[in-house]
Amino acid sequence: MRILITAGPTREYIDPVRFISNPSTGTLGFLIAERAKERGYDVIIIAGPCNIPQLKGIKVISVESALEMKNRVEENFQFVDVLIMTAAVSDWRPARVYKQKIKIKKEWNLKLVPNPDILQCISMGKKENQIVVGFALESKNILENAKKKLKKKKVDLIVANPVSNFGNTLKKTEMFLLFSDGRIKKVLCTKKHLAYLLLREVEILVSRKNRTV
Ligand code: CTP
Repeated sequence: MRILITAGPTREYIDPVRFISNPSTGTLGFLIAERAKERGYDVIIIAGPCNIPQLKGIKVISVESALEMKNRVEENFQFVDVLIMTAAVSDWRPARVYKQKIKIKKEWNLKLVPNPDILQCISMGKKENQIVVGFALESKNILENAKKKLKKKKVDLIVANPVSNFGNTLKKTEMFLLFSDGRIKKVLCTKKHLAYLLLREVEILVSRKNRTV
């Protein structure tokens, strides 16, 4: 099985020294990648800026912006069986990127434009036997919002995650796995254990698809 995993934040530059980003550490993506490698899969990670050491036998493609991540995901998706989008993609980017450092001392307005939804674009064009997994990071109404994202983004599986889990590796957190066939599983686990559980679910989805295709 070939797996493509996105991880970490994206950076949307305003000028050469300033950007919009978020505190994603990329940990979960790398834990899933490590586990997939242990299971004998071919693994590619497309990662925004995060401080995680290179993992033996895993190809890491480094990116910065959401547009760059989208291009790399599109280039690689056709060659894989599974995409797992753990990346915390910035929803917006500055409408204009200043080439020189901005010298504004007074209050000013920054115009933002929406970034494309990578997960949604990819899952719309996926082949029958490809599996796409997304995440839903929510601060309230976790299940309700995750259900909406599952439908809107047309993914096979979405992991609903409370924002308190952001950057948190050791604590057990309650999360939900929502499947496109309507099943919902509640789990209470660390990120490491989630990586294990998620891959097991992905393996089941892949084998079911291969039986029906
Ligand atoms: N995602 C993406 N491209 C974006 C935004 C998000 O591919 N421009 C992916 C994320 O990697 C994740 C899923 O979509 O797998 C949900 O991301 P999340 O931040 O929870 O939701 P958003 O779609 O950004 O919606 P909102 O911020 O309004 O909750």
